[in-house]
Amino acid sequence: MTAVPLQSIDRTTPVLEAVDLYRFYHVGDEETLALRGVSFKLYRGEIVAVTGPSGSGKSTLLACLAGLDDPDGGSVRIVGQTMSRQSEAERAALRARSVGMLFQSGNLIEHLTVRQNIVLAQRLVGDVDRIRVDGLLDEVGLSDRADSTAATLSGGEVARAGLAVALANEPELILADEPTGELDDITSHRIIALLRARAEAGASVLIVTHNPHVAAEADREIMLEHGCIV
Ligand SMILES: Nc1ncnc2c1ncn2[C@@H]1O[C@H](COP(=O)(O)OP(=O)(O)OP(=O)(O)O)[C@@H](O)[C@H]1O
Ligand SMILES: [Mg+2]
Repeated sequence: MTAVPLQSIDRTTPVLEAVDLYRFYHVGDEETLALRGVSFKLYRGEIVAVTGPSGSGKSTLLACLAGLDDPDGGSVRIVGQTMSRQSEAERAALRARSVGMLFQSGNLIEHLTVRQNIVLAQRLVGDVDRIRVDGLLDEVGLSDRADSTAATLSGGEVARAGLAVALANEPELILADEPTGELDDITSHRIIALLRARAEAGASVLIVTHNPHVAAEADREIMLEHGCIV
């Protein structure tokens, strides 16, 4: 791992800037205001928890930040580059370079092995770094399952393999939606500890969670209600 000494981390330049994000969904005659003017910044070295009731807009927010969805209003900048209102290809390139995503539903391709999944994520950005792949497998404790296909992993192993994929390109921004949702306490704690190590190495981490213990481990909390920060 290429850990950056803490004192050399630039904590004044935001890794992520969300400015006045709006997102509306139309289903039939009904309009849902999923995000209503959400603004915040994330800095290097910090873990921020996003909490709020079901339907408050947390997953919508993460999708807009990752450029998987485009907000109807406002803008997202990641490491100084505009994510919103770019072409799909530009968003995908910025995402692959700078964002690691961890979703409860998993970010693994089931018929590939754990190692192949990590290698695939690296290929999207450039060359495959075998030493880093081995280091990641070791970091998440899956060296002995490296050549198992994703479909054969347990829930906790899927979560750790998903984390290794999210970290494959040393992202500056890590976005996690309920990464510890169905995991036992020991595995949850382990995932959070791995994310903390990344923050200490200079990344910023945003975690959506319903779990008060996970929120308590964050440096600050952003609470959403009806699409607004409260
Ligand atoms: N694709 C969609 N089409 C229509 N409405 C949607 C869509 N996605 C989300 N919504 C609505 O937008 C609102 C916010 O949804 P979102 O998934 O962001 O909530 P959440 O905070 O992640 O909830 P949970 O804690 O249950 O995951 C909800 O009212 C939801 O029904
Ligand atoms: Mg959600």
